[in-house]
Amino acid sequence: MTQHLLLGQTLGFSGNPLGGWEDVTHHNSTGGVLIADGVIAAVGDGATLRAAHPDATVTDYGNALISPGFVDAHMHYPQTAMIASWGKQLIDWLNTYTFPEESRFADRTYADDIAGRTLDLALAHGTTTLTSFCTIHTASVDAFFEAAATRNMAVVAGKTCMDRNAPETLRDDAKSAYDDSKALLEKWHGVGRASYAITPRFSPTSTPDQLAALGALWAEHPDCLMQTHLSEQLPEIAWVRDLFPNARDYLDTYEAFGLLGSRGLYGHAIHLEDREVARLSEVGAAVVHCPTSNTFIGSGLFDLMGLASAGVRIGLATDTGGGSSFSMLRTMAAAYEIAQLRGTALHPAQLMWLATEGSAQALHMSGQIGHLGAGAAADLCVLDLAATPAIAQRSARAETFWDALFPTIMMGDDRAVRDVWVAGQRVAKP
Ligand code: GUN
Ligand code: ZN
Repeated sequence: MTQHLLLGQTLGFSGNPLGGWEDVTHHNSTGGVLIADGVIAAVGDGATLRAAHPDATVTDYGNALISPGFVDAHMHYPQTAMIASWGKQLIDWLNTYTFPEESRFADRTYADDIAGRTLDLALAHGTTTLTSFCTIHTASVDAFFEAAATRNMAVVAGKTCMDRNAPETLRDDAKSAYDDSKALLEKWHGVGRASYAITPRFSPTSTPDQLAALGALWAEHPDCLMQTHLSEQLPEIAWVRDLFPNARDYLDTYEAFGLLGSRGLYGHAIHLEDREVARLSEVGAAVVHCPTSNTFIGSGLFDLMGLASAGVRIGLATDTGGGSSFSMLRTMAAAYEIAQLRGTALHPAQLMWLATEGSAQALHMSGQIGHLGAGAAADLCVLDLAATPAIAQRSARAETFWDALFPTIMMGDDRAVRDVWVAGQRVAKP
């Protein structure tokens, strides 16, 4: 059995740092990560691991930081080619840019091209797990899972269901959404590193019948995740109120149809009522913070600390292509800026946790991915903390590890990603 020993700085967590980072954060400036059979076998002091495993192949990354690969908890792979489309807010942005692009995924060849392109871009940015919406087309789901399997990546995805308020070419119906989702789930869920997520896009594009059908499917397969959008923009929320006059609030449009649960992932969740926060916390659901999207589409300022202190689980995501970057470093920077606008300075430890362990917990994959510890998949991202002249001159002045890491969080991108490992194999740089 070949063992690899990676030497460098390491950063791990023994708990959630959002309530206080010092006691649960473990940094080692001369650390080591031992990999065997695609899994992390040990994390510890580099020299000690080297002496204990003399036959291991050693890669010495020096001062670079060996982190778990980033876990993107909400994105849309079919929107990769239209990222950074100018000038619209949510509903106009969907109608102008998103729906026409998603219509192209009727063509399997196009879906294969964009699925592979997205996964390669993710890896180049140090992201080893994506949680993606696909399109209405079942082949778009096959394309994504097949491309991920080729790369041995752990991914979560599902067919996006819509049976109203979308172009004809992008509409299914309640029965076909149920049937297609069920068939895809049975085909992919738990196969290799694939997980299926039941995926109603958001309540404006699903009839009550469709929401109920997908709620029934989730009840039949409670080990699956369910992903959707929640309370992203104020005009969207007003529209939901018109479409569902009997609902107590936006979350209730899911709750009433069996679409609220601990394995639910609710993207954005910016403008929440107190009842919605209480229910999300009570059922153990996760909200997903999409900060570059929330500023790019003009949605609002996510209340990270308020939700965390209410006990709501939180993941972090790019929301490509509403989000404006493929980089989880850039995403952490945007999360920092939004928290500043709400009066909180997130610590680098808290930002790194959100992009790795926090997202993994949201996906119920804690300890399997996003974790630097024995037993987790050896999905790793090695960060050069002096990757550009601007970052290097700033980190050269740093007196602490955190002060050396923070410029990479704020100014880093794919240039900071020195190496990526997926399931114990080093990924060749393109
Ligand atoms: N709400 C419904 N669909 C979408 C989408 O594709 N992107 C974003 N940001 N919000 C949505
Ligand atoms: Zn989204």
